[in-house]
Amino acid sequence: MQNTVNQSIMPVTTKIKDNGHLEIGGCDVVELAEKYGTPLYVFDEETIRKCCRQYKEAFSSYSNISTLFASKAFMTQAICAILKDEGFGLDVVSGGEIYTASSANFPMERCYFNGNNKSSEELELAIETGVGRITVDNFFEMELLNSIAQSKNIQVDVILRITPGIECHTHEYIQTGHLDSKFGFDMTQVDEAIELIQERYHNLNLKGLHGHLGSQIFETYVYSDLVEIVVAEFARIRDKFGIVLEEMNLGGGLGVQYISEDDPPSIYEIADVILTALKQNLAKYDLSEPKIVVEPGRSIVSNAGVTLYTVGSSKQVPEGKKYVAVDGGMADNPRPAMYQAKYYGIIANKANEKPAETVTIAGRYCESGDILINDAELPETEPGDIICIFCTGAYNYSMSSNYNRVPKPAGIIVQEGQSDVIIKRETYQDLISLDVIPERLKKNNCSVR
Ligand code: LLP
Repeated sequence: MQNTVNQSIMPVTTKIKDNGHLEIGGCDVVELAEKYGTPLYVFDEETIRKCCRQYKEAFSSYSNISTLFASKAFMTQAICAILKDEGFGLDVVSGGEIYTASSANFPMERCYFNGNNKSSEELELAIETGVGRITVDNFFEMELLNSIAQSKNIQVDVILRITPGIECHTHEYIQTGHLDSKFGFDMTQVDEAIELIQERYHNLNLKGLHGHLGSQIFETYVYSDLVEIVVAEFARIRDKFGIVLEEMNLGGGLGVQYISEDDPPSIYEIADVILTALKQNLAKYDLSEPKIVVEPGRSIVSNAGVTLYTVGSSKQVPEGKKYVAVDGGMADNPRPAMYQAKYYGIIANKANEKPAETVTIAGRYCESGDILINDAELPETEPGDIICIFCTGAYNYSMSSNYNRVPKPAGIIVQEGQSDVIIKRETYQDLISLDVIPERLKKNNCSVR
């Protein structure tokens, strides 16, 4: 089967120019660093669009499919514009993501609102902006959502998030489908949830079930297990309650290649596993084809994004490692510190040179754990070199912080030699824009006791 975008580390447009500079999206990466400054998030539009099209194509033999992008992976107004164009919907998990999508004129009926503790304000915002489905996660939320819908005298289309009880061999923090999970209804609670909807929560309109396995998944069989479990549940609900559910949301989770050792399955393989399992299990229970929803995040944007840094100081520990420090780190990419995530990087202005030293690429934040890459094999590094770290498109900007009061980097998108800002670089002014000094602390005689 054909390879897909998630199976390579670099954006699809990556080239090395004759002058040894890295090129992405037809743009000289070193010139981008000069023009926009570093650290800089760079997104390759062609990679994102190609991946979206591969998802669409992979599921094209099934007529009733909705592809969503899990916007928690990377959310800005510009990405909403691209996904809208590619016919994708969105998995949104907060008022902020809903607000961003709606402000970008995203078709809100294509949005699914997930999350284990949505506030009443967020649920109201979802209803007001016309979010298509709300994934009800627990009993508390069911009651809350029904009372909001009742007060507005409307019906809300919901799907129930279930915990299918499948273990994936991914990092423990990003597993969600196993039994001891904070997300969703345990399988033993599904009947009670349905009874409540039937008997008490008349403003909730049950459309289907949602099961998400986890993230950065490399095994394909877990998806067929998921389909088997959810289809069996559809059949059981039909037989017990006489309800024919219409929708099956299978979540996201397809893994990507961060380093050469990573070997994720292709989008086509995953689609094939899902659709084959679906066909078999629907036939087994004599069920008609439901609408299938998939909501990948990481695999859509991961290798479309790279981060550019400038090399500053370096330190050779006597008889030990060489640390090369860059102007960003754990605040723009918390994943190595949080998940021991591994990345691949090169020197963008020496892309055609052979490795000459093994260095540890350290961030600029005041924490020893702020290391971006251990044991990177690089040509000889010098101050001013531009380091490009690949596969930083997913969960980097979206999890970034202002630790040490460092402004967040800018983000740009490149396409056919053109570059455009999609996220402005934060300024010191932005950093203090929400600070307030209470009047009583402004007095000259203020002292801390
Ligand atoms: N659907 C639901 C309900 C989810 O919770 C998630 C991710 C997705 C879809 C998308 O999963 P993906 O295709 O991106 O794997 N911050 C972590 C990842 C957390 C994932 C949370 N949920 C990381 O940086 O690895």
